[in-house]
Amino acid sequence: MVATPVKTEKRLTIQTTAIASDSTTIRSLDWDRDRFDIEFGLRNGTTYNSYLIQGDKTALIDTSHAKFRQLYLDTLTGLVDPKTIDYIIISHTEPDHSGLVEDVLALAPQAIVVGAKTAIKFLEDLVHQPFESQTVKSGQSIDLGKGHVIDFINAPNLHWPDTIFSYDRGTNILYTCDAFGMHYCSDAFFDEDLSVIEGDYRFYYDCLMAPNARSVLSAMKRMAKLGEITTVANGHGPILRHNLQELLDRYEKWSKAQTKAEKNVAVFYVSDYGHSDRLSQAIARGITKTGVAVEMLDLRSAENTEVHEIVSRASGIVLGMPPLSGHNHQDIVANVGTILAAAKEKQVIGMFESYGDNDEPIDPLLTKFRDVGLKKAFPSIRVKDTPNEAIYQLCEESGTDLGQLLTRDKLVKQMKALDHDLDRAMGRISGGLYIITATKGDIKSAMLASWVSQASFQPPGLTIAVAKDRAIESLMQVGDRFVLNVLEEGKYQSLMKHFLKRFKPGADRFAGVDTQTATNGSPILTDALAYLECEVMTRMECSDHWVVYSKVTSGRVSNLDAVTAVHHRKVGNHY
Ligand code: FEO
Repeated sequence: MVATPVKTEKRLTIQTTAIASDSTTIRSLDWDRDRFDIEFGLRNGTTYNSYLIQGDKTALIDTSHAKFRQLYLDTLTGLVDPKTIDYIIISHTEPDHSGLVEDVLALAPQAIVVGAKTAIKFLEDLVHQPFESQTVKSGQSIDLGKGHVIDFINAPNLHWPDTIFSYDRGTNILYTCDAFGMHYCSDAFFDEDLSVIEGDYRFYYDCLMAPNARSVLSAMKRMAKLGEITTVANGHGPILRHNLQELLDRYEKWSKAQTKAEKNVAVFYVSDYGHSDRLSQAIARGITKTGVAVEMLDLRSAENTEVHEIVSRASGIVLGMPPLSGHNHQDIVANVGTILAAAKEKQVIGMFESYGDNDEPIDPLLTKFRDVGLKKAFPSIRVKDTPNEAIYQLCEESGTDLGQLLTRDKLVKQMKALDHDLDRAMGRISGGLYIITATKGDIKSAMLASWVSQASFQPPGLTIAVAKDRAIESLMQVGDRFVLNVLEEGKYQSLMKHFLKRFKPGADRFAGVDTQTATNGSPILTDALAYLECEVMTRMECSDHWVVYSKVTSGRVSNLDAVTAVHHRKVGNHY
């Protein structure tokens, strides 16, 4: 059964279809979701996927975002009499999936809410009415009848501490919520066309899952013990069926690569407090861009022993300010004490405010870490208003600074260790000198580039190799637009000097530089010889760089008699 999408002015629509026997998806399609949360980097909106399993008993898995309240409740009640819902299974308690639990419970007060112990605790704070609940963990199941035995596994940190996956033995469907998802909004229920979703799938992984790579691998080990999995019914984007093995293999490959990193950083946040989790994710993404692994832990729910173990093996610590009071406050205080006790000289530390209404102040705690001998990796992030894109950019760039601080020695060693002949020969590859400028939402960035080459005639296209730890890399995702400014021979020194500077996290790269605005919104440098407006088509991962292929939509030369500045190098092991 396929319902006709119902359109509203805000481009919120809902669609439903059977995905297996007795199993229906209710997908809330949010076509125009703004890029705000860091993982919404790409051109599309997102979907919130909810599922109904109707055996002898009926279970609803997850709900939707509160913005879909009426649409979702109308659709749900069109499919099932709420009075017959026996279970509401909560994969985790983030509001994009649990935002309507209270509303569904109002219609289905008899339903038993099923979730991990932490999830039920969170929900008791969120839902302002008593409800019956059942906590579940790995190895436990619920029998819905007609063969639909639902097995649960814990999947903590994917991406909240309270996550569970649910596996239906009757249909071989694994319900995973955030894990294996992507922010991709289309009418397609399934993943038929890998090429259109793989960029979004990867970007979402990089933002939400890479900082939890160990947890991904642990969850996948538990998944292997379930029966055959033919479908992954995720919480965002198309359901995985046609390219399932390939997409699962990618998660495993990417996560193994993360956990092989020589250094790692422990990032602590407080779930359900201020903007702690989102800010910590942005910092974590900035760190993983440098090839340093991250382990994220929620101060509210983490075990003391786990905190101790992770801090002991970390090269760096990032700490989100916890609240001065509130639920689980004692546990949080104990965990912060454990971090301090386990912290060692030679580690680096970065701190950020969570912008809850009750943050512990940064400075006294930071002083304690510095007394132990830890070095501050970036200026403490002070958040004075609801975080906007600029704050998330500041977080990401602060994370990258921290990662670069940890990898600097290794990079210097690598430079010295390269074979000299090979190195000199590589140095004979020359390129022009360019400055890439990009704007996305409220944020702007720029980078000096020389690994640029024309790559196609029709459409006119070019490739740029961008190091993975560059700030601008986040603004060069598939669908993003930027400007390639071509520098002029004999007239490039001041621009080159300016953009070669080491900018502080979040600093304005364009202060004191003359610019105009291109049609695509990115800055054109007034002193450039030429500019090309570009749109990213594909990206290829090449070890420590991304090769970004873009089509050129327009361009102009300011001086037809001038030539492009060329970058000659002696050695090829750095720029
Ligand atoms: Fe899609 Fe963690 O919520």
